[in-house]
Amino acid sequence: MFKRLNHKINIEDYSLLDKQTQYGHTVDGEFRGIVYYNVQAGTDLYQLIPEQYRADFYVSAFRINDVIPPHTDTYDRTTINVYVETGDYVTEFYKPKHNNPSKRQIDNQVDGYIFNDKDLLLAGMFKAKKNDAYVLDVSCIHSVRPYYKNLDRTAINLSTHVHDFDSVCSMLQQTGYL
Ligand SMILES: [Fe+2]
Repeated sequence: MFKRLNHKINIEDYSLLDKQTQYGHTVDGEFRGIVYYNVQAGTDLYQLIPEQYRADFYVSAFRINDVIPPHTDTYDRTTINVYVETGDYVTEFYKPKHNNPSKRQIDNQVDGYIFNDKDLLLAGMFKAKKNDAYVLDVSCIHSVRPYYKNLDRTAINLSTHVHDFDSVCSMLQQTGYL
């Protein structure tokens, strides 16, 4: 589901560039949800991965400013998130209670789905601290919920649609980050 890396990662400086995609809704003219960006970062996240696998990963950034309901990600199988601003959100992982949980798609979701809480059992959770890095199996159902209120959360992430969670964990062991 998820593991915390054994090193904090300080992203020296970064700038968010073009918007890639977004999931959410607009309230009073303001977008609420998650927005993914291209990013330029002063810290090279590819160092987390052995050289021969780096071409299978890409770096981007996301900003969250609302509850992200239980979902599986579009495209990505595994992602490593470095939380530069945590916004005090809690990431939760779930297992379906039965084989056929109801699911739906929202705008821009291609191969990911949204699920209903009533079909899910909580299987694990974490509350990241600033500069913590976690590897996540984003093919598992997960949500992001505010601990106090909807603040801004920003993370830089290194993601792959090629390698599953266990493979990425063994890569991180090879580089000494797990
Ligand atoms: Fe996600």
